[in-house]
Amino acid sequence: MSPRVILDPEEMPKQWYNLAADLPKPPKPYLGPDGNPVTPEMMAPIFPMNLIEQEMCTDRWVDIPDGIREVLAKWRPSPLHRAKSLEKALGTPARIYYKNESVSPAGSHKPNSAIAQAWYNKQAGTKRMTTETGAGQWGSALAFACSQVGLDLKVYMVRVSFEQKPYRKVMMETWGAECIPSPSDTTEAGRRVLAEMPDTPGSLGIAISEAVEAAVSDPSGETKYGLGSVLNHVLLHQTVIGQEAKAQLAKFGEKTPDVVIGCAGGGSNFAGLAFPFCADKIAGSEMDIIPVEPFSCPSITRGAYAYDIGDKSGMTPLMVMHTLGHDFIPSPIHAGGLRYHGMAPLVSAAVDQGLMSPRAVHQMECFEAAVQFARTEGLIVAPETSHAVAAAIQEANKATEEGKEKVILFNLSGHGLMDLKGYQAFFAGELSDYELPQEEIEGFLAGIKGFPKVV
Ligand SMILES: Cc1ncc(COP(=O)(O)O)c(C=O)c1O
Repeated sequence: MSPRVILDPEEMPKQWYNLAADLPKPPKPYLGPDGNPVTPEMMAPIFPMNLIEQEMCTDRWVDIPDGIREVLAKWRPSPLHRAKSLEKALGTPARIYYKNESVSPAGSHKPNSAIAQAWYNKQAGTKRMTTETGAGQWGSALAFACSQVGLDLKVYMVRVSFEQKPYRKVMMETWGAECIPSPSDTTEAGRRVLAEMPDTPGSLGIAISEAVEAAVSDPSGETKYGLGSVLNHVLLHQTVIGQEAKAQLAKFGEKTPDVVIGCAGGGSNFAGLAFPFCADKIAGSEMDIIPVEPFSCPSITRGAYAYDIGDKSGMTPLMVMHTLGHDFIPSPIHAGGLRYHGMAPLVSAAVDQGLMSPRAVHQMECFEAAVQFARTEGLIVAPETSHAVAAAIQEANKATEEGKEKVILFNLSGHGLMDLKGYQAFFAGELSDYELPQEEIEGFLAGIKGFPKVV
């Protein structure tokens, strides 16, 4: 049997799956600054109406327009591999599968939503988009997407990543986008942070504030903002991953997996793989669904389940999520894409309702896992993805101890070929583990004390 299954182009999903329709308890509405639910009109300066409707949609299935499927078909359906060499190295009775999202032009799952967002913006008459990027994966994905549909793009890149990953900027420029480090002096939000903390490494929260401000302050109304994770419509666009994986597992002769794993920053690649399986779990299938995050940014495992804003300065609505507080400034671990203070409201709700079992892993274990994966399976994964690899290895070792033939599925969310500085630092012995002290978490969470309580 071939170690990978590739579907025919016609087998690419024709609809996205919306977990909001199936959660036992419906997700809480977003609130405006006055504590009342936000209306579509309130979000209209930031996003086009077609995406706002999708954000609030509770239909189980949403059709994927042909124009989007045509671009996705440039690399989708993505392959599902069986990690036989890794299984052999681990000596495990488990069968490990990974969905390979690194095959997109930008190198990760991010274009699944970037293409959809750029396409809907183009339909709505948007001329320019703005966005933030942590590791650079989302910025390059949206740069690629905007070049496909014909939109201009400005990207605010978290300063520490801008310095760690100069080639991501070159990728964005190659696709025609402008990329500047955040905080910058081009926005009020950026100038405020620079005045207070001139040497800050930046954060996703700050970069989001800058990108939203840049969009809403364009008097023509022709500039809109795009977010790479967290929001419902972004997670929706990613569900092609899990739907394809189901069809591919069936072709491998597998039924329901025992364990489904994804790394979780804002939650989009994890949700993309896990939500279609979560539907089966809600319908009665037994399965462990594990979002994996770093010990240094433990929003789901140690954050509060509370109303918080999605950025530093309150440009976004209040959302119920697992959060470390929007004032959180993360340690500069190499998994830049996992350094966000909150978790997607839909992932947070599913965790709160007992459907998922979040886990934190340390940076060193992740790099060790990534190196073992590279030396067995061959692929050099992104530092974010290494968290999923580490958890998959933990689960395989558990299956060995229990003597069980478990089926483990994880999302290989991106390759690490633009992140070799992290690997270099690991080999040079410059990396270490970091666990966020409880007092620091409590300090950051003080910033959300005045927000409405979850009832
Ligand atoms: C390769 C890769 N995986 C995972 C993530 C985390 O984001 P999300 O949780 O939205 O999938 C990122 C974010 O930049 C990424 O680049």
